[in-house]
Amino acid sequence: MAQAQKASIPNDLEPFWMPFTANRAFKARPRLIAGAKDMHYIATDGRRLIDGAAGLWCTNAGHNRDPIVAAIQKQAAELDYAPAFQFSHPKAFELAGRIAALAPGDLDHVFFCNSGSEAVDTALKVALAYHNVRGNASRVRLIGRERGYHGVGFGGIAVGGIVNNRKHFGALMAGVDHLSTTYNREKQAFAVGEPEWGAHLADELDRLVALHDASTIAAVIVEPLAASTGVLPAPKGYLERLRAICDKHGILLIFDEVITGFGRLGFAFAAERYGVVPDLITFAKGITSGSVPMGGVLVRKGIYDAFMKGPEHAVELFHGYTYSAHPLACAAGLATLDLYREESLFERARKLEPQWGEAAMSLKGLPNVLDIRTVGLTVGIDLASLPDAPGKRGYAAMDSAFHAHDLMIRAVGDTLALSPPLIVSEAQIGELFDKLGKVIKAVG
Ligand SMILES: Cc1ncc(COP(=O)(O)O)c(C=O)c1O
Repeated sequence: MAQAQKASIPNDLEPFWMPFTANRAFKARPRLIAGAKDMHYIATDGRRLIDGAAGLWCTNAGHNRDPIVAAIQKQAAELDYAPAFQFSHPKAFELAGRIAALAPGDLDHVFFCNSGSEAVDTALKVALAYHNVRGNASRVRLIGRERGYHGVGFGGIAVGGIVNNRKHFGALMAGVDHLSTTYNREKQAFAVGEPEWGAHLADELDRLVALHDASTIAAVIVEPLAASTGVLPAPKGYLERLRAICDKHGILLIFDEVITGFGRLGFAFAAERYGVVPDLITFAKGITSGSVPMGGVLVRKGIYDAFMKGPEHAVELFHGYTYSAHPLACAAGLATLDLYREESLFERARKLEPQWGEAAMSLKGLPNVLDIRTVGLTVGIDLASLPDAPGKRGYAAMDSAFHAHDLMIRAVGDTLALSPPLIVSEAQIGELFDKLGKVIKAVG
């Protein structure tokens, strides 16, 4: 590892407009990272920080793992790029097959893109086009959920349920409706695993069908765990009920597994944990353990087959990206899947879940802790907001974790979120929550 070496800080932080970042606060007191290995980041001042967030929910195999690094280096020297349209390269097919083999049911075709946002927009477009090619052109409505996060493309923000992500971009959002959030603190506070209360909220889909008519609805998209808006696990039975209602009305069910894919909930996909087979699954992040941007959509055989009609020389779906199935991403993805398998990392997450949940709940009773939710290797901790300053305590906690406690966490408003790499050891779970407890007290 690049041991505790200091790295230089750029003189001018101004030109980079940072994404989803409080730019002025960051530039006044930067949190800059220079290196990483396994469970740790190395800050530019040489400090080692334990990574409680898997970067941004993505480095599931840990950081800078040797086999992934070697695969990327080899690929870069061998084939930098192959055109994605009308040409390809062997690893794209190999990786698609490996991902399909991990997916449940007949989800056996993969469309590649470069991010979770692109995966969501791809899935929504495939759903709309699927109904169209089958002669159901009136099925154009999409249903999302309040507090859903589906990235930042126009499709994703339309079905997403976060007001700040939507309010300035309204014009293109017609034809979308939303289910209610499944989170209710009064009914679910301090739940370990899937809450008992809330399955009935899936029945709202029946209400939306009664309002709009099934013949106008193309698809429903939900995250099996709404992670980015504060770790909101699906209530017991909720996803099964959604599946049944979709089946009844011929509506496609999309699971957005950009975060839950590749082991976060102890299985290759959350669909397996819940025993529910959706029609499409979006993935990104964990497919390359964050090392090279990649996303994709798994679709059921019947969906793919519906497009494979007409003259053979003709393009079947007018959609794709220059960097779909980029050789570097495919090489990284194959090496990452090898690591997941060789180190049984999904099973490891499943085995560690009880200890993780118990350690998380040990923070109950600390100052300002309103709720703790945990499922798989994730936790969301709601802190009470400071009067008239929502988000300020959460920001202070994230900043204090980085600068004063050598800990990397994520804050969403006043909710602190953790999702460590799946290689986390039992001792490191203790260390993470010990540090987190100190952080919470520091901002109390
Ligand atoms: C469920 C879900 N969908 C989509 C996205 C968007 O992914 P990206 O930031 O790679 O575009 C995210 C990102 O966190 C996500 O959590």
